[in-house]
Amino acid sequence: MRNLIQLTVLVGAATMPGWTLSASEGDAKYREHVMEAVGGHMQAMVDILKQEVSHSDHLLLHANAMADLGKIALTLFPQGSEGGDALPAIWEQPEEFQEKLQAFDSAAAGLKQTVSSGGEVGPAFQTLGQACKSCHDDYRAE
Ligand code: HEC
Repeated sequence: MRNLIQLTVLVGAATMPGWTLSASEGDAKYREHVMEAVGGHMQAMVDILKQEVSHSDHLLLHANAMADLGKIALTLFPQGSEGGDALPAIWEQPEEFQEKLQAFDSAAAGLKQTVSSGGEVGPAFQTLGQACKSCHDDYRAE
């Protein structure tokens, strides 16, 4: 029953003009959508690097997008946006969390730089993957 009500609310949200989520709910949803994009670019780069597809010319596009998303990520956790799989520790340890965000941003910028200059992609990609994991381990619900 609860699910049905939630579904009705969702459908209503999609069809009723002027219906808006509260600021915090909106921020939490937006964060999830952006993180899905982060995950999509990451997975696409894995496909390319494993040579499962012949789109190596797309690598720079994904790396550029990831660098932009690294910047966006810095703004995704405002006060009051608690929710989803984001753990309360994010807002309880803001300085430690900020370091994880910075590590992501600089790893993404580093990958972009490496790909665009024709450097060795492997280590830069690993650094980025490590930045994701290190934040998820501490700040995302399983
Ligand atoms: C600074 C912390 C942090 C970093 C760095 C980070 N994430 Fe996340 N990620 C989160 C949090 C927190 C959530 C849960 C968000 C929510 O539910 O509101 C999440 C959620 C996700 C999700 C699930 C989205 C959904 O459908 O709900 C994916 C996929 C994801 N991250 C991929 C990545 C990848 C790939 C990277 C690295 C390129 C990355 N993340 C880097 C904190 C981080």
